[in-house]
Amino acid sequence: MTTRPYVLLSCATSLDGYLDDATDERLLLSNSDDLDRVDEVRAGCDAILVGATTVRRDDPRLLVRSARRRAERVAAGRPASPTRVTLTGCGDLDPTARFFTVGDTERIVYCASSAVEKTRDRLAGLAVVVDAGEPVDPARTLDDLAARGVRRLMVEGGVSVHAQFLTAGLADELHLVVAPFFVGDHRAPRFAGEGRFPWHAERRARLAEVRQIGDVVLLRYALSDRCPG
Ligand SMILES: NC(=O)c1ccc[n+]([C@@H]2O[C@H](COP(=O)([O-])OP(=O)(O)OC[C@H]3O[C@@H](n4cnc5c(N)ncnc54)[C@H](OP(=O)(O)O)[C@@H]3O)[C@@H](O)[C@H]2O)c1
Repeated sequence: MTTRPYVLLSCATSLDGYLDDATDERLLLSNSDDLDRVDEVRAGCDAILVGATTVRRDDPRLLVRSARRRAERVAAGRPASPTRVTLTGCGDLDPTARFFTVGDTERIVYCASSAVEKTRDRLAGLAVVVDAGEPVDPARTLDDLAARGVRRLMVEGGVSVHAQFLTAGLADELHLVVAPFFVGDHRAPRFAGEGRFPWHAERRARLAEVRQIGDVVLLRYALSDRCPG
């Protein structure tokens, strides 16, 4: 049996726990030093996963930005940036999104069975579209990624994706960055949605590290025995 990839969840929130605001503009929560830290974490992973809404709303590149880190990956026989991965139920993904058009790394779309055919048509030549059942099961997705050689996966949101990995006990580590301002709008998405989480008042998660990065703070939680430190 292939070992399930090590799963590192990463996100930034406001002081009141929001991942974004309710406008159409992308809300910048991190600062530049923290974005560089995220870049380093990305460079250490084999794949990065985000939900389809994040692809639609934020249009992220999900590439390693630092030329030095890209060169180091290539020298080590790896692609310059990690494989990009998303999950979709309806398959409503824009083939012109940066997820599909920027960089030449592999892209994998785990798609609910009912939407596989139209998604394969829409994304032909741009991504591998995997029939991942109905609905897509994150654990099955991890098994498939492991079979494709992914040993370390970074999950970068959004709310529903974080909630699924956390409630299913599939996360090994959480990097939570807290930005020094409030959003204060109940219409905005909040970390990490609703659900029965394995960590609660009677079972507290282990805080592995606290790091100040300029005006933000990184809280690193160990969520499984696989997490060092
Ligand atoms: N601050 C941060 O660090 C950060 C990071 C990332 C995102 N965000 C924010 O988070 C918000 C988006 O969060 P969100 O919860 O709305 O969306 P999301 O988690 O990014 O994506 C949800 C979508 O992913 C697909 N999906 C997720 N799980 C699935 C499953 N098991 N089976 C099939 N499809 C599945 C579905 O796509 P379909 O709709 O295509 O069926 C679903 O609607 C945005 O505002 C974004 O800016 C913030």
